[in-house]
Amino acid sequence: MSFRTIPDDGHPLRVVLVGVGGMGQAWLRAIGDCPEVQLVGLVDLNTDAAAAVATGLSTPVAVGSDALEVAARTGGQAVIDVTVPAAHHPVTTAALFAGLPVLGEKPVASTVAQGLSLAAAAEVTGELFMVSQSRRYNEQLWTFKEQINALGGAGVLTTEFFKAPHFGGFRDEMDHPLLLDMAVHQLDSARFLLDGHPVSVYCEEYNPPWSWYRGDAGCTAIFQMSTGARYVFTGTWCSPGLETSWNGSWRASAEHGSARWNGDDAPEVENTGGEALHPETETSTELLGDGIAGSLREFVSCLRTGATPMGEVHDNVLSLAMVEAAIDSHESSRRVLLEHSLDAALEAAVRSEQSEEVAMVLKSWQAAGGYPVR
Ligand SMILES: NC(=O)c1ccc[n+]([C@@H]2O[C@H](COP(=O)([O-])OP(=O)(O)OC[C@H]3O[C@@H](n4cnc5c(N)ncnc54)[C@H](O)[C@@H]3O)[C@@H](O)[C@H]2O)c1
Repeated sequence: MSFRTIPDDGHPLRVVLVGVGGMGQAWLRAIGDCPEVQLVGLVDLNTDAAAAVATGLSTPVAVGSDALEVAARTGGQAVIDVTVPAAHHPVTTAALFAGLPVLGEKPVASTVAQGLSLAAAAEVTGELFMVSQSRRYNEQLWTFKEQINALGGAGVLTTEFFKAPHFGGFRDEMDHPLLLDMAVHQLDSARFLLDGHPVSVYCEEYNPPWSWYRGDAGCTAIFQMSTGARYVFTGTWCSPGLETSWNGSWRASAEHGSARWNGDDAPEVENTGGEALHPETETSTELLGDGIAGSLREFVSCLRTGATPMGEVHDNVLSLAMVEAAIDSHESSRRVLLEHSLDAALEAAVRSEQSEEVAMVLKSWQAAGGYPVR
């Protein structure tokens, strides 16, 4: 999708950071380390928290509770949305309609319907909305992808994810903490590794009796991808002992061998077929850094050039669609087709849309046979 660019004028991009909670602190560091951006404002519903953070900075920045007001006051050119998932849709919609491109934390929104509304809002406003899916920005993941391609492409890809964090806060109260807050990273990485879109899923969620989460902290899901590959995610967020890495532990099985990655160290490969088949990794962009530092630099670079970033909302929404379809599969005890899931989300998006212009784009997708899977 084309969007309004902000050509490089020799000055850093002026950004407003919204949300100064746990992850907001990490973004502050990433912004501070990135010469291509300049922090001009800090926004949080809790203005005392934003003001406290601002006093610790070496350069003064504006503080407030409304991103648009702070951007107007400071000449802010873009918004970085690090609020809780429930606030992603209102904060990002308002910014896009105010003519501000947005780099937002994952997940794209609380629901796929809201994610589709944001994709349509990006079209209506012509502004870039990119979701920072930070675990894609990892050299080892990219090497793993090269290895898989060199083996002829994966037929089966698996992730084991076993961790035992005690967060407190919103995750402990979520209905689907593992799938929505964590597995969305791995499902997104699986789409990247397999170069395909999801076709169907069968999933069971569960909450071990000793779990300290209110919602289901465990799940096993089997996805069929458009390449024909199967992707299996299994794990829990209350698994003390022998924990996997935060990326999870990966294995790919292909015609000419296997590759595996523990998520922390260089991936290993055993090629039983001789020469490499498809050694190049094809991605829309180059890797510009690790984690959120990489997504921040990609956001700025794409705003300058008009290139499409990896997390552009139209594509990224498919990662949340995998989560939502998995939840639907668990709740209905059946295999769910992503196409049906996206159709239902599109209907819900049309029903609840407040903006007539956005609703028109959503309806145009319906008229064309459904959400255009990219
Ligand atoms: N990429 C990663 O690895 C990673 C890691 C942790 C969290 N996250 C994501 O980052 C986001 C934030 O998570 P967190 O752990 O920092 O949450 P948090 O609860 O610690 O902080 C969220 C902040 O947003 C503020 N806020 C909420 N609604 C707002 C609104 N409408 N306007 C302005 N401020 C608002 C809250 O007051 C709070 O200070 C979530 O989407 C989460 O999934 C990503």
